[in-house]
Order: sequence, then structure tokens, then C-alpha cells
Amino acid sequence: MFKRTHNCGEIRFADLNDIVILNGWVNKVRLHGQVVFVDIRDRYGKTQIVFDADEYQGDLEKVKKISMEDVLSIKGMVRARVPSAINPNLETGEIEVLVSEFIMLNEAAPLPFMLNDRENAEEDLRLKYRYLELRMEELQKNLLTRHSTYQATRSYLSENNFVEVETPVLMKSTPEGARDYLVPSRIHEGKFYALPQSPQIYKQILMISGYDRYFQIVKCFRDEDLRADRQPEFTQIDIEMSFVDEEDIFGYMEGLTRHVFQVVAQADLPGPFPRMTYKDAMTTYGSDKPDLRYDLKLIDVKKFTDASDFNAFSSVEIVKGIVVQGGAKYSRKIIDELTEFVKKYKAKGLAWMKSQDTGFEGGISKFFSTDLQKMIKKELKMVDGDILFMIGDESKLVLNALGHLRKKIAHKEDLINKTEFSPVWITEFPMFEFDDEQNRFIAMHHPFTAPRTDDISLLDTDPSNALSRGYDLTINGYEIAGGSIRIHSPKVQEKIFSLLGLSQEEAIEKFGFLVEALTYGAPPHGGIAFGFDRLVMLLAGTDNIRDVIAFPKTTSAASLMDESPSSVSESQLSELGININKPKDP
Ligand code: AMO
Repeated sequence: MFKRTHNCGEIRFADLNDIVILNGWVNKVRLHGQVVFVDIRDRYGKTQIVFDADEYQGDLEKVKKISMEDVLSIKGMVRARVPSAINPNLETGEIEVLVSEFIMLNEAAPLPFMLNDRENAEEDLRLKYRYLELRMEELQKNLLTRHSTYQATRSYLSENNFVEVETPVLMKSTPEGARDYLVPSRIHEGKFYALPQSPQIYKQILMISGYDRYFQIVKCFRDEDLRADRQPEFTQIDIEMSFVDEEDIFGYMEGLTRHVFQVVAQADLPGPFPRMTYKDAMTTYGSDKPDLRYDLKLIDVKKFTDASDFNAFSSVEIVKGIVVQGGAKYSRKIIDELTEFVKKYKAKGLAWMKSQDTGFEGGISKFFSTDLQKMIKKELKMVDGDILFMIGDESKLVLNALGHLRKKIAHKEDLINKTEFSPVWITEFPMFEFDDEQNRFIAMHHPFTAPRTDDISLLDTDPSNALSRGYDLTINGYEIAGGSIRIHSPKVQEKIFSLLGLSQEEAIEKFGFLVEALTYGAPPHGGIAFGFDRLVMLLAGTDNIRDVIAFPKTTSAASLMDESPSSVSESQLSELGININKPKDP
């Protein structure tokens, strides 16, 4: 190998006539008779190199065999491109290197897919050959964005006195939350560690130990159903602070978010971030992570349907609707598609009326008197050509189905400004959700979240209406971070465990060390964790979490490149004292 003098994105017009050495991958080859043009690439850029039979001393037949993704080392002289060949879109576009010598460092086998055409290769194939996909400009850019995000995060937090502490990856399995990934212990046969779903307990203990401000960029593991913004192992910016309330946390976290967006994406976020209660978010947007880049609010329309002859909605809990401007253009087929869409969220149907002249037409409009139609149009400020969609049912179902419809229509109507970032704090979450399957309360955030001071008495009388001191930060419809002010009183903590159905013994067995630690001088504390991958998704402008992780898993939690998970040998299993129940033969 010749040692490179420059990288492939570096040479400029000022370097004319210099002898240079480049190492890199073949990005493109063009044969023009006795002249061969090759674009050579590395992560810094591309440079055109030229093998010209008139000047090249070596064997041109060998050169003609150069193919995509071969790794080359070349020596040559920088020369100006002829004016017609100048490429203004390339930083090295004014020059080319006339090659005098070259070494083939590694010949690439025929490629399983074209590296400049990502969309045309199946994702599974790209994941199997992830090392090839990672060579693509888009992914290289994303990983550099991720790198800048680590650096910006560390510098902001470190400058603000946060201390980076690592916490164990092998820990005790604890109930609540998602399913744990378990690791069998060889030394303690029959016992298991769990991989952390988050370092929640450790960071609280660090506060009790006096570290005051902690952070960690940390891997978390959750065995749960995966989606476009979820991975089984993902990264958090985990944060905890002592002697703070919500305002302190919001202040520092807005500072961190603003800093990261400014440094990484040169984007100025609005400040202070708006706030919205969970209840308002649900009733107005049908989601606890509303995308505020577009309007399309959910409107209460029960008083209208109650005044109509449309009986299907007369005994339902709520009827809500959304007005789509210009939506009267929707054909029967489109309305049917939208109806099928809301049925996925358990809606029984999608009622609609199109606005025209003085009233409505189509759908369920015939059940509404002329006066009622006029009144609805006026109150909802609807004009000709709009459409009103409505769903009536039990509240949770209606809000969820319309919340999804709202998003679907925003995409369909192209209502989203892709260059905008719209953060909002969601506050006042309920403490508990009732789980019908388990017939018990589960913590809406996690069991260490403090109830609002005014609501502590509700824990005895009406826990389902108690609100918590939890908060989420949502940006553009993604839950980017979640956290809470914690319980620092052992009594309240025990009370919450008992409401969650954990007996005193179970609570002590699972979380005894935390409950005990709370009795040895626990400061009031609170914190938050950012979904680091989701943050990078926003900064990189992608909506697929796998685009910002070097080696992601598929939606079935497999890694196609290294073929994990995989079977292990009988001897490994027996060392761990594990017997696998072999699936029975069919
Ligand atoms: P929570 O469970 O809300 O809180 O997680 C914090 C943030 O992590 C991100 N996130 C995920 N990202 C990718 N894939 C996943 N499977 C995944 N699950 C969560 C989200 C989420 O907002 N210990 C608490 C935090 C605290 O209370 O301080 C916790 O983990 O962006």
C-alpha cells in the first residue's frame, strides 16, 4: 500500500501538479476506449482518477478489470479537469488525478445489491450485508450526526456539572415495565441476571449517595414488540438531579435539547417549550405525543349528533370529529380506505358529511336538519369543500382512533412542515392505568414516580384519579424523553408498591434495597431519560430508527448480519444447568 497523502474529499484546484496518493473504494468506473475514469471514495468524499493509456506506464488491461467496491491505492498527479467535465456539485469537482501507479488492495466480489440504490434492495438483504450498506453516504451522514449528538450532549452536561457514571449491565430482574432479557448465571446455577431496561434504580441510588447530578449515555434492553421507532436494545441519555423540582429539570433539559439541535442541526428551537397536560393532549389530539406541526384538532361534536336523528351515536360516551379542509374531494374509495384504517383501532365505523353551499351532503348528513347543518358549519368554521369525519364510542377508543386518523390525514394532505421542530412538554399524567387482563393497577410511568403533593390523599380514596409528577418531552409526534420527580419517602414508596399489587414481602424481595436506601438520607430528586436514537432520528431527518444505529435488529429482534440469536452447544447449556424444551415434532 502507498500511504495516503490526502483523503478522497480533500484535493482542490490549489493542489494542481502535486503528486498525491489516495486510498479508497471504487465508486464508479467508466471506460472510454484507452482512458479509464474511476471515482475513488472514502468517508470524506470522492475524487475522479484517470488512467490514460498515453501516460500510464502499467498494464491497462488490469485497470479495465477494476470493479465497484474494489479497494485501491493510487499515486498520480493532480490536474485540472477540462471545463466541460467540471462538476460543481462535488468539492473535488474541478480536478482529477492522473494515475501513474496503482495497487489493488482488495478485489470486491460481485455485490449483492447496488450501493447507490438503497431503496431498490430489500431491507433484509441490506441488513445481512450491513457493512456494505454502511458505506452509503446517507448512513455515513447519519452516523456522523449520531457522533456529533454524543459530543454535544457530553459537553453540555459536563459544563453544567453533571457527572458521567457507568452502571451495571448485569443486574437484578425487577417486575414492571417490559419483559426483561435474562442472562443465566454459571456460578449461581438456576439464577439469572437481567439486562437493564433502564438504569432507573441505580441512578436514584446515586442521588442517595450524594452525586447530585448524574448522566450516562447508556444501552437499555427491552423485550417488547418492535416498531419503526423501537429497538430491543437502544440508547438513552439518562439523567438524574437532586434537590430539584419540575422547573429545574425542564430548564436544564430545554437547555440540553436546544444546545444539541443548535450544534448538530443548526436549528433554533422555540423557547420556552410549550406545555400541555396529558388530558388536553388526549382530548385535543388523541395522543399523549401530539405532533403540533399541524392543526387538525379533535372537536367535540356530541351536542350536534344528539340534536340530529342519527341514532347510532345517541347512547355512546363521546362523539368527536375532525374537519379536513378541502376533504370534500375524497372519493367513496378514499373514504372507505379511511374507514378501514380507523377499524384497525377498533372503531366500528367512520361517519362523515361533506360541506357544500349552505349545508352538508353525503354520509350521515340526511339525519341533520337544515338549521342544524347551518349551525354546525358556523361553529366549526367549515367552508364549502371541507369534510367532517366523526367517531362515536367509548372515550379511549374514539380518541385513539381519531388521533391516528389525524396523523394519517396530515401525511395524506401534506400538512407537515418537514423542516420544523415542534417540542412540547406533556405533564400531569395519571399515576396508574388499570390493566383489565391482570385486574390491577400498573404504573403509567414507573413505580418510583411521585404523586402530585395534592393527590397523595387520593392514593387511599381514589387512586385512579391521582395525577403524577411525571413528564414527557415530545417533538414532532415522537416521545423523545420521559421522566419524573421521584418518591423520596419510604412510606409513599411502600404505598405505591401495595397499590401495584406487590405485597410487602414481594416489594422487599424485588426492590428492598431501594426502599432501604430511601431510609438512609434520600434527597428529593428527579430525572429524565432521552431516547438517544429517536433524538438522532429527528436530527438526521429519518423516520426509521434502524437508519441511525450502526448494527440494528430487525422487527423480530434478529441481527441478520451475525445471525443472532443463535443456538448454543449442549456443553454451554449444561454448564449453566439449562435444559431446552425441544419443540415437539409435528
Ligand atoms: P422511558 O421508559 O419513558 O423512561 O424511556 C425513556 C425514553 O427512551 C426511549 N425509548 C426507546 N427508544 C427506542 N426503542 C425502545 N424500545 C425504547 N423504549 C423507550 C423513548 C423514551 O421516552 N427510567 C425512565 C426514565 C426516567 O424516569 O428518568 C425510562 O426509562 O424516547
